[in-house]
Amino acid sequence: MTSPMVLGIETSCDETGIGIVSGGELLANEIASSVDEHARFGGVVPEIASRSHLEAIEPALRRACGTAGITLDDVDAIAVTAGPGLVGALIVGVATGKALSAALGVPIYGVNHLASHVVVDELQHGPLPDPTVGLLVSGGHSSLLLVADDVASISPLGQTLDDAAGEAFDKVARLLGLPFPGGPWIDKVAADGDPAAIAFPRGLTGPGDCERYPYDFSFSGLKTAVARWVAAREAAGESIPIADVAASVQEAIADVLTARTVAACRDHGVDHVVLGGGVAANSRLRAMAEQRCEAAGISLRVPRPELCTDNGAMVAALGARLVASGVPASPLDFPTTSHLPVTQRSW
Ligand code: KG4
Ligand code: ZN
Repeated sequence: MTSPMVLGIETSCDETGIGIVSGGELLANEIASSVDEHARFGGVVPEIASRSHLEAIEPALRRACGTAGITLDDVDAIAVTAGPGLVGALIVGVATGKALSAALGVPIYGVNHLASHVVVDELQHGPLPDPTVGLLVSGGHSSLLLVADDVASISPLGQTLDDAAGEAFDKVARLLGLPFPGGPWIDKVAADGDPAAIAFPRGLTGPGDCERYPYDFSFSGLKTAVARWVAAREAAGESIPIADVAASVQEAIADVLTARTVAACRDHGVDHVVLGGGVAANSRLRAMAEQRCEAAGISLRVPRPELCTDNGAMVAALGARLVASGVPASPLDFPTTSHLPVTQRSW
């Protein structure tokens, strides 16, 4: 039997993604982003995101089929992000997926966005080792996950207590007058800065914190520290060394993320790490994770940057996994939800 052709639809935030996967192979990964329309507001505006998905989804679907060299009649199963995310944005993808499922007479899987961010690496590096610690860092989430039982079980070890890592990058970038989304800008500007220029705080590393919150993160104190540092310089009439601030902030974020990931592996006897989510595209995080994992004897897998940020391939990858594992399809009336626990891979 040939491998099932799985179409993945992603519309949880500001990227309209259509991915097509068959037999572990990525055949198409079309992305239309509305990020430019949000830039002047300094953050994603849900209404604008929903409208943009509506405009972009059908052309993206056509382009994806064209790239993969298939027609919709070749699709064997649909996977669509059901949550977590912006509900109005999710509804566009879910309604499209349900319509396709009904019209084509193929099963549909309403899947978890966070689980997709973890599983996407399989498209590049093959099946995930069992067990693996996942560091999922995006604009909305920062979590350490224990991925076990051949990806059937994804359980949270820790998470951010306040801002997500991507949110911290975006807020600091805004303070420095850099465009939205700020993460890629901080990454770029930091290349010319000194990461040791300013000792910004590492959240939850004070006395007692490591015992109480061994695998959690906190980034709101970092954002406040940067705001104070910048305000003090401005009050003194000094110019702001943007590259040094960016490099020092990036260092602080990469430091806590990688230190806790290695600690989670050590404490749980796990030798494998996978990174996922938009922040996993950060060059310093990737380099530091590589160094620290190598020093600790841990194998590290990081998907290429376009698979880290939101895309349809990751949804198709999870859908293909569910089909291959014989997981029952979702009922056609499954809901969209802004808060879907990472433990629930699909409806
Ligand atoms: O996974 P993603 O595309 O969307 C969410 O599900 O949130 O992640 C978007 C986040 C944004 O906060 C963006 O600034 C951040 O990922 N990001 C980066 C980089 N590329 C994207 N942060 C730091 N360095 C980067 N190179
Ligand atoms: Zn995401």
